[in-house]
Amino acid sequence: MNILAFESSCDETSASVVAREGDKFTVKSNIIASQVETHKLYGGVVPEIASRAHIEAISSITYEALKVADVTMDEIDAVAVTANPGLIGALLVGVNFAKALAIANNKPLVSVDHIKGHIATCYLDTEGNVPTPPFLALTVSGGHTGIYLVEDYDKIKLVGSTRDDAIGESFDKIGRIIGIPYPAGKGFDALSKEGFNEAVGECDDYLSKYKKSLAYKSGAFTLPSPAVKDDSFDFSFSGLKTAAINLLHRYEQLGEELPRAQFAARYTFEAVEGVAKKLGMAIDAYGVKEIALCGGVAANSHLRNRLAMLAKEKKIKLYVPPVSLCGDNAAMIGAQGYYEYIQGKFADSSLNASASDTIE
Ligand code: KG4
Ligand code: ZN
Repeated sequence: MNILAFESSCDETSASVVAREGDKFTVKSNIIASQVETHKLYGGVVPEIASRAHIEAISSITYEALKVADVTMDEIDAVAVTANPGLIGALLVGVNFAKALAIANNKPLVSVDHIKGHIATCYLDTEGNVPTPPFLALTVSGGHTGIYLVEDYDKIKLVGSTRDDAIGESFDKIGRIIGIPYPAGKGFDALSKEGFNEAVGECDDYLSKYKKSLAYKSGAFTLPSPAVKDDSFDFSFSGLKTAAINLLHRYEQLGEELPRAQFAARYTFEAVEGVAKKLGMAIDAYGVKEIALCGGVAANSHLRNRLAMLAKEKKIKLYVPPVSLCGDNAAMIGAQGYYEYIQGKFADSSLNASASDTIE
């Protein structure tokens, strides 16, 4: 079967045709119109501009997704769309477009949660190297940081989350202050690598070696962990962010030059260790044998490296999507849409977008 899927929850307009044959998915097309260059001018996503850009892009990328996949609307079995969570105006564009397309072509409509979509990225591996529920998914993006228990493909429970800011937002914000253009995550990742290399040299487990290094012990960049100090699996990135901002202010007030790479390495170290700590606790508590890393921040090389170490230590399997599928895209919505479809979970013309999270 072929699913035509849409994603427009933030600053990426995407349309994709995902096919399901046997027990495997094939991504026939995955067209992404990114608005990053537009929002870069403002240092972050401007919701109203995002909505307008989605409207401008959605028709043409739909034609392109069908053309690249070499299928017609007649060959589409269902239309799937992100309905929540996200920027409300941005979501409404995708939802209304998908609704109109489904009604006009007499196709079933499936509503997909964006976070479930990010988790479903892990099912897209063409070799069939995919996690099987139950497993834990760490979903890290610009708007979310959570640990989810995937009990079944369409039954997902939130077991831990950020109590304030998301990890991706924190990289973007701190990165912007130290001069990395929006979205700063990728640049922050590269700068941190320089910092780790300076501190411990190039190696596979530099994150663990770093803790023993002089750069760490010097205390120049003492920063708090985002792992909440209790038995929960929750995070708090606001404390880490504030401490980092205060530290940067101090450098500015003293007129001292910031060793940017060392600072980025220490910030990344605390962020990644905090996340790995809570994930480790959740793995023990739920006794799962598989974990998955998803969302835009899953592209972070240090986090990928650290979770590979964690999985090895816990003797469990880690699934990480290719970097090209970590960010927002419609193929992931198509994959989750398939599982909602086979459960008969259809939406109708009353489908509305919602800015809020629905996974509890
Ligand atoms: O999933 P996504 O595309 O959009 C949301 O749903 O938020 O995630 C975007 C986030 C941004 O904060 C971006 O800076 C971050 O993912 N990101 C990274 C990396 N690549 C993208 N963060 C850290 N390291 C990266 N390599
Ligand atoms: Zn996302």
